[in-house]
Amino acid sequence: MAESFEDRYGPWAFVAGASMGIGRAFAHGAASRGLNVLMLARGAELLDATAREVAEQHGVQTRTLAADLASPEIGDLVAAASDDLEIGLFVYNAAIAPHGQFVDVALEHQLRSVAVNCATPVMLCNLLAGKMAVRGRGGIALISSLGALAGAVNFGTYNAGKAFQWILAETLWAELGPRGVDVTSMLVGATSGANYGYFQATLDTELCRNGDTDDPLERARWRLMNPATPAEVAEQLYRQLGDGPVCYTNASDALVGEATLRMARRDAVHMWEALQRTSTRAPEKQAL
Ligand SMILES: NC(=O)c1ccc[n+]([C@@H]2O[C@H](COP(=O)([O-])OP(=O)(O)OC[C@H]3O[C@@H](n4cnc5c(N)ncnc54)[C@H](OP(=O)(O)O)[C@@H]3O)[C@@H](O)[C@H]2O)c1
Repeated sequence: MAESFEDRYGPWAFVAGASMGIGRAFAHGAASRGLNVLMLARGAELLDATAREVAEQHGVQTRTLAADLASPEIGDLVAAASDDLEIGLFVYNAAIAPHGQFVDVALEHQLRSVAVNCATPVMLCNLLAGKMAVRGRGGIALISSLGALAGAVNFGTYNAGKAFQWILAETLWAELGPRGVDVTSMLVGATSGANYGYFQATLDTELCRNGDTDDPLERARWRLMNPATPAEVAEQLYRQLGDGPVCYTNASDALVGEATLRMARRDAVHMWEALQRTSTRAPEKQAL
């Protein structure tokens, strides 16, 4: 008989960045497959409410940890909160996306982004991956972005951090796969969430009309106007967790991602710059 999701990735999932948006959907998706969920975010009130919702809807246990993933002590905090739990699934979902030209964004903000997008995933994989390898089973998903595939004006450290997660996941996939641990990086595209509506309102609708095309810029623009839902993203992650080092939410994102990878680098960077010009967003109304 095929191994169930629960046997392969249970009994506990840990979702870092779990109180809303895609992370909330990852927590629900793990719980709906029978896993208990350790959920982390900064805002305790919303985190606790989401954890109650997950426990009630799916009849599993939840535990919360209100903490900042930018903290240098985060490894110790997670270790203390999960010491008595067997974590078989780790989803690193949270991100910080400083918006603006590199020279205009405060260094402190850039470095917080590097902490959350790069240093902390390393710390937490270090904490959890070895134990999974010893058990010979488990799963790790580093939630990246299509933005990982190219530099893009106004998102310097965000895109670089997402590339870091993607490449780290590829290495972990190669090293841990033979030891029974599935690793993937999801290159997420536009997805609705708390801030997405503000961003969508800044889009030039004329540029976003054509979804029936293989042109990656046009398809990416169409996706901005037609975001996936968090539930779709979570469903696809759990379907594809054991299928390879990279996965996408849908065929449009795969088309955009694979076309970007085939481009000359200067063309890729310019395409992502053009994609930015689809929006007239103000920095305070940014979406990820
Ligand atoms: N939405 C998109 O269109 C899109 C596109 C491409 C990639 N992605 C990627 O998908 C992931 C989720 O995006 P989303 O749009 O769902 O984000 P979101 O709605 O902003 O949710 C982020 C979650 O992470 C938590 N979080 C953020 N910063 C944290 C920190 N420093 N410490 C601890 N928890 C933190 C948030 O709670 P608190 O604020 O309370 O901490 C929240 O639970 C991110 O990795 C993002 O890069 C999203």
